[in-house]
Amino acid sequence: MSGGAMEAAHARRVGRRAATDTPALMELWLASWRATYADIDFDARLEWFKARLAALETGGALTLCLYEGAPTFLAGFVVIHPETGWLDQLCVHPNCFGAGAARALIEAARQASPDGIRLDVNADNTRARRFYEREGFSLVGAGAISCSGRATVVLEWRPNCPADGK
Ligand SMILES: CC(C)(COP(=O)(O)OP(=O)(O)OC[C@H]1O[C@@H](n2cnc3c(N)ncnc32)[C@H](O)[C@@H]1OP(=O)(O)O)[C@@H](O)C(=O)NCCC(=O)NCCS
Repeated sequence: MSGGAMEAAHARRVGRRAATDTPALMELWLASWRATYADIDFDARLEWFKARLAALETGGALTLCLYEGAPTFLAGFVVIHPETGWLDQLCVHPNCFGAGAARALIEAARQASPDGIRLDVNADNTRARRFYEREGFSLVGAGAISCSGRATVVLEWRPNCPADGK
């Protein structure tokens, strides 16, 4: 592969989601959660997720997509509300786990919400918790019980604080 072709294969871009991204985004949501909790039937929750995403976007949240490669594919997405700083969804395709995609998306979320970010995450989602800890998020306290009946914790990132992972 030539140098230019290699660069194109590794190209990465974050942008607002387009309507044409919807099928890939739904597939990605399913794949990333199936890889995380094999015991949960996420197909049964897909309609819930579609309604959730629509409600978040209507309420002002941004869905930012990470596109990679040539030809381009969807590697992950984050849903962040720029005014409240609430991060509701962060998903990376399992083929891209451990490759910096989540970091690129959290960077985009920080740019969209530079005063801070809050989220909740299942307490037993160790991979996500490790990621957020590495990215400078701190534990704020217990969150609500999730749809699957799991305990959640609330995490927060603030700029220029000692735990800032940047
Ligand atoms: C959470 C998510 C976005 C993180 O993306 P990622 O590419 O997997 O993240 P990274 O690989 O950069 O970081 C994960 C960290 O957890 C570590 N890790 C991997 N598996 C782990 C496990 N089973 N237990 C604990 N830590 C684990 C990794 O080694 C890495 O830490 P390190 O960089 O210090 O070595 C992605 O895993 C995902 O989409 N998960 C499903 C959806 C989800 O959980 N979203 C977040 C809910 S709010």
